[in-house]
Amino acid sequence: MTVHHLRRSLLRCGVGALVLAWLPMPSLAQAAQPTDADARAERIVQKMPPEALHGLVQSYFMGGTAKQPPGSIGAAGYVPALPAYGIPAQQQNDAGIGPNNYPVGFDARGWPTGVRGNAGDATPLPSTLALAATWNPRLAETGGRMIADEARAQGINVLLAGGINLSREPRNGRTFEYFGEDPLLAGTMDGAEIRGIQSRHVVSTIKHFALNAQETNRLAISSDIGERAMRESDLLAFELAIEQGHPGAVMCGYNKVNGIYDCSNAHLLNDVLKRDWHYPGWVMTDWGGDHGVTDALAGVDQVSGEDFTGDDNGKGNFGAPLMRAIADHTIPVSRLQDMARRILRSMLANGLFDAPPPKPVDFEADAKVSQDAEEQALVLLKNDAAQLPLDAHVQRIAVIGGHADVGVLSGGGSAQVWPVHGPAIKPVHPDLHDSASPWIVYDPSSPLRALQQRFRKARIDYVDGDDPARATALAKSADVAIVFATQWEAEGIDLPNLSLPGHQDALVTAVAAANPHTVVVLESGTAVRMPWLPNVAAVLEAWYPGARGGEAIADVLSGRVNPSGRLPITFPRDERQLPRPVIAGGASADYDVEGAAVGYKWFDRQKLEPLFPFGYGLSYTRFVYSDLKVSTGPRVTVSFVVRNMGSRAGMDTPQVYVDMPTADGEAPRRLAGFDKVDLKPGEQAVVSATIDPRLFAVFDVAANRWRIDAGRYTVEVGHSSRDLALCGTTDMKAASIAP
Ligand code: BGC
Repeated sequence: MTVHHLRRSLLRCGVGALVLAWLPMPSLAQAAQPTDADARAERIVQKMPPEALHGLVQSYFMGGTAKQPPGSIGAAGYVPALPAYGIPAQQQNDAGIGPNNYPVGFDARGWPTGVRGNAGDATPLPSTLALAATWNPRLAETGGRMIADEARAQGINVLLAGGINLSREPRNGRTFEYFGEDPLLAGTMDGAEIRGIQSRHVVSTIKHFALNAQETNRLAISSDIGERAMRESDLLAFELAIEQGHPGAVMCGYNKVNGIYDCSNAHLLNDVLKRDWHYPGWVMTDWGGDHGVTDALAGVDQVSGEDFTGDDNGKGNFGAPLMRAIADHTIPVSRLQDMARRILRSMLANGLFDAPPPKPVDFEADAKVSQDAEEQALVLLKNDAAQLPLDAHVQRIAVIGGHADVGVLSGGGSAQVWPVHGPAIKPVHPDLHDSASPWIVYDPSSPLRALQQRFRKARIDYVDGDDPARATALAKSADVAIVFATQWEAEGIDLPNLSLPGHQDALVTAVAAANPHTVVVLESGTAVRMPWLPNVAAVLEAWYPGARGGEAIADVLSGRVNPSGRLPITFPRDERQLPRPVIAGGASADYDVEGAAVGYKWFDRQKLEPLFPFGYGLSYTRFVYSDLKVSTGPRVTVSFVVRNMGSRAGMDTPQVYVDMPTADGEAPRRLAGFDKVDLKPGEQAVVSATIDPRLFAVFDVAANRWRIDAGRYTVEVGHSSRDLALCGTTDMKAASIAP
């Protein structure tokens, strides 16, 4: 059974818009113009002898084994200040969903006695995938500002943020840290978050460059893929985010691409990033991602956590070995100057030299930022017979499982944020690998309590779901049963499959058999298999909901908030529909199987019916689209009318797709634009989107340029990638675009 309607548009497109003129088109990634920051960086570099320049090109890891140098605040990376040249220290810290912190110790009962970091506390946003599900770059930008302000209050000025590896492999344990499967959505959202961070005297990275698509064998696996396919998919996501967000640093990943480590990969770093994209900032390695002093020649500007590959005493690859290579001219001193210049210009461009004192953190206001994001991230996947919102006069509600009495789940690893006032339950350390294994942490935001506040007259009971008999008995006695199901993910560990772990499928099935009004709330890091889907009345995907997740979930369940999230990844029926039914475990992953057809493009190309398609999400109201106009180029503009036909106010996310006219395209359809509109009942708005010409193009490897083939292109507007309502065409002349 499918709850969505795979209403592939059967409309025949009419005659389209005008013929585009002129070619070739200019470079989109315009050569960076020298700025004041470049000039200042150059002046400083000119004064610095090699020994001083060398002070900038490696950072020291403070989290674990290394001794902490004076001046460091004990975060992931520290680069000492150089007062003689007026250069401030770099205090680098992770920041997937907020400044990463970690427990300083545990008491006898196993509860953390505090968290690390000057200011200690931090506010977790919903997961990055949840942010992507909002399809609202304004929320990503606001979230970025919030993270940066909290980080700066702790003395941090470089954030290891901006994770954007495309979700090629939904079992990837870090899927929750990334922006989904589409280059335009991911690039736009990530660019916005980076812009937000960097508006606050803080440098942001973008990571992990590139094709770091899974955690299994992550330190050695080779992502094998053709040049054209990677340019049109994973690299396009980076390209768009870098253009829109201008991150000061790029972090190269652990994995190899086509047999060469990311951080030793001159093609990725020198040819693509620095030459083709004119990237002016610095490349830092992932922690321990360096593989030799010659990485400097491949494009690395800074080795991170030098003690990962060295010995804590400056003997890492960019320690003594780099200075020897400079002395014997194996590496020219001009390269060392370039490394320092790139680092300094990004620090200067983002105001690290001139930063005013940080403001005190308003945790209450930040929790609100987190809640706003989650409210727009919640995706209503199924809602039979208008089960949701819950009837305002409901008498008895059964809440089952997922620790919903106390909190909401978060993702583990370097993107973990230990929440303000500590976790909701005693943190569990699954001890999967070693002492560095991540913890399972619940944020203290109780859906149960939030529901009790919204339904004051109702009786609401909770059972943990461990005993299915108790759960079904409670469900039977209630008007509505809400099961909270969880799927924990973490850095370093891929999921074996997309099924809910433990006995949760059986629990949902049993509860649904006991009560026809069963609602499932999913707290997951990625897509979930739902064998029980036909039996439940409603499903709400909440991702990892963040600091005020419980409140946001209760607001959607009660109808205070109309759900407006849309899936940023395809939910397959089962793993057999994926390009790799079993996750690649050996020395390499063959990504040429799907090539650039990541996610929904693969499902479209293979004509597979997913469980829920990319871009999908229901609302408590109904939106219709009309009056499509497709303009002439060279930048094609699409406009149409969105009307709220229901009786509730709500937000909609109309999506524009371009169909490639030839089989030469990587897939039948590409997301080419989107917007988020807020409409009162009966209200309408004109939405317009300008399509990036690269979304009409293929990457011509021989010419090293984007190439638009002449032809008639279909442009569609839809509610999801599989529910397309309007259709138009535009005729394109052949054109060529510099990368
Ligand atoms: C992760 C990075 C992170 C770094 C520093 C690495 O293991 O892959 O994403 O920024 O650690 O904590």
